[in-house]
Amino acid sequence: MCSWKESHKDICSADFIEKHNIEYMTAFLSDKLKNGYKLYIKCNDNTPVGIIGINPEDEEICLLYVLPEEQGKGFGNELLKFALAKCKNPYITVLDSNKKAIEFYTKRGFVPAENQSKNTVEKKIFERKYVYQNKNM
Ligand SMILES: CC(C)(COP(=O)(O)OP(=O)(O)OC[C@H]1O[C@@H](n2cnc3c(N)ncnc32)[C@H](O)[C@@H]1OP(=O)(O)O)[C@@H](O)C(=O)NCCC(=O)NCCS
Repeated sequence: MCSWKESHKDICSADFIEKHNIEYMTAFLSDKLKNGYKLYIKCNDNTPVGIIGINPEDEEICLLYVLPEEQGKGFGNELLKFALAKCKNPYITVLDSNKKAIEFYTKRGFVPAENQSKNTVEKKIFERKYVYQNKNM
């Protein structure tokens, strides 16, 4: 949750950020699990440091979050590699403004799947789908 808040604080409205408290995120993740999503937690010394999700129905890789203080140590890469190994034709969706994540994904073989980004639930915030093309990460 703190990773989501950190990465979205300059992108989304304060109200939208505030809404994402523990209860909201617990319900959100429970809902994902009920809908068949697989969620994987990366631990370092028995402490959770990151999470990634896969929707087995369409192979969307989602919810990749590493704790802010644990970023830049290779955990995101490890989580993504782990998820990619479970998919044949994965895709991701990233906010246009999340430059750090876009750089992370494009460096690792994801390319834009759509010419135009789509408006999200938050007005004036756009996101785009990326498909995986590099099979030799
Ligand atoms: C995007 C995100 C998941 C990346 O996770 P991360 O753990 O910081 O990523 P990594 O550490 O694996 O890789 C980041 C960089 O650190 C480098 N790195 C530093 N130390 C490293 C180490 N010990 N081992 C491996 N890589 C290391 C990597 O080479 C990489 O550089 P590169 O991208 O130029 O190749 C993370 O920044 C994050 O949680 N962001 C906020 C949430 C978010 O935006 N998620 C995406 C939503 S769509």
